[in-house]
Amino acid sequence: MKRIYVLLAVMVAAVALVGCKKAEDGKTATDNTSAKPAVESTEKAASSDVLAETQDELILEARNNFEPIPLDPKEGFKLLKNNEATDAKYELGKMLYFEPRLSKSQLISCNTCHNLSYGGDDYQSTSTGHGWKKGPRNAPTVLNAVYNSAQFWDGREADLKGQAKGPIQAGVEMAATPEYVIEVLKSIPEYTEYFKAAFPDQADPITFDNVASAIEVFEATLLTPNSRFDKFLRGDSTALNDTEKKGLKAFMDQGCTGCHAGINLTSDGYHQFQVVGTDKEHLLAGDKGRSAVLKEATEEDQFAFKAPTLRNIEYTAPYFHSGIVWDLREAVAVMSSAQLGAELTEEEIDQIVAFLKATTGEMPRMDYPILPPSTIKTPKPTMD
Ligand code: HEC
Ligand code: HEC
Repeated sequence: MKRIYVLLAVMVAAVALVGCKKAEDGKTATDNTSAKPAVESTEKAASSDVLAETQDELILEARNNFEPIPLDPKEGFKLLKNNEATDAKYELGKMLYFEPRLSKSQLISCNTCHNLSYGGDDYQSTSTGHGWKKGPRNAPTVLNAVYNSAQFWDGREADLKGQAKGPIQAGVEMAATPEYVIEVLKSIPEYTEYFKAAFPDQADPITFDNVASAIEVFEATLLTPNSRFDKFLRGDSTALNDTEKKGLKAFMDQGCTGCHAGINLTSDGYHQFQVVGTDKEHLLAGDKGRSAVLKEATEEDQFAFKAPTLRNIEYTAPYFHSGIVWDLREAVAVMSSAQLGAELTEEEIDQIVAFLKATTGEMPRMDYPILPPSTIKTPKPTMD
C-alpha cells in the first residue's frame, strides 16, 4: 500500500510539472494526457489513476484494504519477470491464446475455457476438455490473473508463463505435447515470421517456452479496470449506491478482507475450505488441494485452496474449486459460516452480493485475431 501511495505522489508531482510546462507553452495547465503512457481508449486517457483527496470515511477505510486496478492495461507488463513485453510478443500471444490448433483435437484453445467474451471463464462446474472429458476442478478466470502471486487453485505454478504450459499438455484439457505444438507452428510459415519478430535474438524461436512467454505477455493485459467499486476507491462517493456501500462495510467488518483484499480481492493465501464445521458436500472427494503439491505438507495444507479473486464474480459462476455452487448468495453464505463462523442475515447477504457485483470492471476489448491458414504439412486433428 505504502509503495502505491509513494508512486501516486510521484505521479501527481510529474503531472503537475508537465502541466506547468504546458502552461508556459501557452496550452492549458490541465492538459496532461501526454504525460501518461499510451492507453487504449480516450475515456480512460481522460480520467486519471490518482486517488482523489476525500473525507468520505468509507472510502478511506476501503483504501486501507483495496486498490483500484490501473486504467492502462499495459501496466500489467510491469508485473512480468524475465519476460520483456513487446508489441510483437503481445500480438503473437494473442493469436496463440485463440489458437485451437495447439490442441490435439484442434478444437480447443485457451479461450474455450477462459472465454474473453464471458468473464475469462467457461461457466462449467469443472472444465470439459479433450474428448469431452471432465477435469477435476472449476476453471478460474484469466482476468487480472497477472496479479496472482501463484497460479492454479493449489498454487503449483509461480507465474502465467509456467501456467500456460500445463493446459496444453493436460489430457483432460488440450491433450497436446510440446513436440506436437512445435510441429503445428513450424508447418505454418507465417508463424515463423511472427516468432522471429517476437524473439528477434533467437536463431530458432519456435519453442514451447516461447509459446508460453508470448501467451503470458498477452494475458498480462487482461485487466478489468474502472469498475464502480474502483471509481469509489478513487474518490467518487456516488459510484456505489447505499446497498452496495452497506455490503462493502459488511465485507470489511465481517473479516472477508482477511482473505479477499488488495488489488485483486485476494490475499493469495491458501485456506482449508471448512475452517469451521464439517460441511463435506462442498469439498471435492479426493481433491487434497495445496497439500498434494507441497513436499512437506502440514495438516493445515490438507484440503486447502487458494483464496480466489472476487472481481467480476457475477460472471464466474459456478463457484469454488469444485464449481458446485451456482448461486452467489449461497457462496457468500457458505463463506461466512465456513471461514468466519458467522451467520449473516438475508439482508447482509444481499448487500454483500450487491457490493461484489459492483466489482465488475471494463472487460478487455480487442480485435479478434485472424490466424494464418494451415498447410498440407500441418498435422490433422485427432479426437482420440
Ligand atoms: C479444458 C479447459 C481449459 C483450457 C483449454 C485451458 N484452461 Fe486454464 N484452467 C482450467 C482449469 C480447470 C484451471 C484450474 C486448474 C487447477 O487449479 O488445478 C485453469 C487454470 C488456469 C489459470 C490459473 C488462474 C488462477 O487464478 O489460478 C490460468 C492463468 C489459465 N488457466 C490460463 C490458461 C491458458 C493460457 C490456456 C491455454 C494455453 C488455458 N488456460 C487453457 C481450464 C482450462
Ligand atoms: C480464511 C480465508 C477466507 C475468508 C475469511 C473468506 N474467504 Fe472467501 N474464499 C476463501 C477460499 C480459500 C476460497 C476458495 C474455496 C475453495 O473453492 O476451496 C474462497 C472462495 C470465495 C468465493 C467463491 C469465489 C469463486 O470464484 O469460486 C466467494 C464468493 C467468497 N469466497 C466470498 C467471501 C465472503 C463474502 C467472505 C466474507 C463473508 C469470505 N469469502 C471470507 C477464503 C476465505
